[in-house]
Amino acid sequence: MSKKYLPKSLFTRSLLILVVPTLLIQIVTAYIFFERHWDNVTRHMSGALAGDVAFLINQLKDVPSKQKPSVVGEFEMATGIDVSFENLESFNPKKSSDYFPEFQSLLRAKIKEKFTVQKTTDGEYIEVKIAFASQVLRIITSVKRLESRTTTIFITWTFGASLLFLMVAIIFLRNQIRPITRLAIAADNFGRGVDTPDFRPHGATEVRKAARAFIIMRERIRRQIRTRTDMLSGISHDLRTPLTRMKLQLAMLPEDISKRDDMQEVIAELNDDVAQMQNMIKEYLDFARDEGREETIKIQLDELLKDVVSDYERMQQPVVVTIKNKVEIELRVSSIRRMLHNLIDNALRYGKNCHVTLQVIGSYTEIWIDDEGAGIPEEKREEVFKPFKRLEPSRNSKTGGVGLGLTIARDVVMAHGGIIALEASPAGGLRVLIRLPI
Ligand SMILES: Nc1ncnc2c1ncn2[C@@H]1O[C@H](COP(=O)(O)OP(=O)(O)OP(=O)(O)O)[C@@H](O)[C@H]1O
Ligand SMILES: [Mg+2]
Repeated sequence: MSKKYLPKSLFTRSLLILVVPTLLIQIVTAYIFFERHWDNVTRHMSGALAGDVAFLINQLKDVPSKQKPSVVGEFEMATGIDVSFENLESFNPKKSSDYFPEFQSLLRAKIKEKFTVQKTTDGEYIEVKIAFASQVLRIITSVKRLESRTTTIFITWTFGASLLFLMVAIIFLRNQIRPITRLAIAADNFGRGVDTPDFRPHGATEVRKAARAFIIMRERIRRQIRTRTDMLSGISHDLRTPLTRMKLQLAMLPEDISKRDDMQEVIAELNDDVAQMQNMIKEYLDFARDEGREETIKIQLDELLKDVVSDYERMQQPVVVTIKNKVEIELRVSSIRRMLHNLIDNALRYGKNCHVTLQVIGSYTEIWIDDEGAGIPEEKREEVFKPFKRLEPSRNSKTGGVGLGLTIARDVVMAHGGIIALEASPAGGLRVLIRLPI
């Protein structure tokens, strides 16, 4: 559940790991500062001002009215607080406000007289009016006496500093994460058969190590593919000569043997076998010639599909294509063509009426090849991908292929980083599903 809300990329995650603790520390410090230090400071300041005011009131109570101005004058000199007398009419106890509650409660504890506390309109001064004897004592002083200005400085500095920290962290993190992104792209490209020739190990030791391991692994896989293809095409090539010789020898059998009743059938079967073997070798060599050597290019897959299907339409074959989305994708074109031909040929040969569908689902392109034939039973669906595996062991070269079509199709799809699967088609026969990453 909480995973759903976590950011996905390494960059944002690492940034969070840095930012969240710093932010927490700041909140805690700010809290402590406000709760303790700031509170204390305000209390002290409020206490001091309340004390000053109470002191003045008490002094004024004790002196005859004649001397009051001089007491006030002394007080103003000593404290820097402005004091004046006003008529009682200017006192309106309802006008009191809840500014500086700390100060108000402290003052209330110190004097019995009623008072009001106001801020001047510019917010710079605080005005305290006290109903005293038959007069109103008006006291004006700067709010700085009650408010600690360090608060704003504190907040500006902490947040300014964190902003700076965040910027530095972003720059550093970017540089750390770039080599990982590059490695991910190279691995992804290799998976779908696209080359990344300029990939080099970069960055922190661990990332370099992973990159170096990837390069070695990639080389080994490439070498294995090359060895396999070279070896098999070598063998196939070498088999061609003896097979041609066998065919020739069969054709040149002396008449007294080839015309014999019991031999005719044997010779026909041998001829078929030789033809089939030649066919297999031709198919395989065709495939091996392209494999691993073809470069990928960006191409409109929908156009390619339409083009392949139009070949069948020209030959009056029952193939229809439905394009649900247009999609451009990096492909080895002749391999993909070969794969599509293999699968459509199968649909026409073992079923009837072939439907080809192309659509984009998320970050994948899906191609469906449906037919209306008998399909393949579920337990045989893995088996038919094996080389030279055929379900109907026909030796008739008209209906029978060599059993490489699906093997090659799977090879092609995998070399593009995709998957191929056989399913039951809603049309009745087999559905071949191909999913290629975009
Ligand atoms: N659309 C299909 N419907 C029913 N069976 C199928 C279908 N496609 C393939 N098969 C079965 O799977 C087997 C293997 O197919 P695959 O394409 O690999 O070889 P093939 O068609 O026999 O020969 P090739 O394609 O090499 O000429 C086929 O012999 C057939 O029995
Ligand atoms: Mg086939």
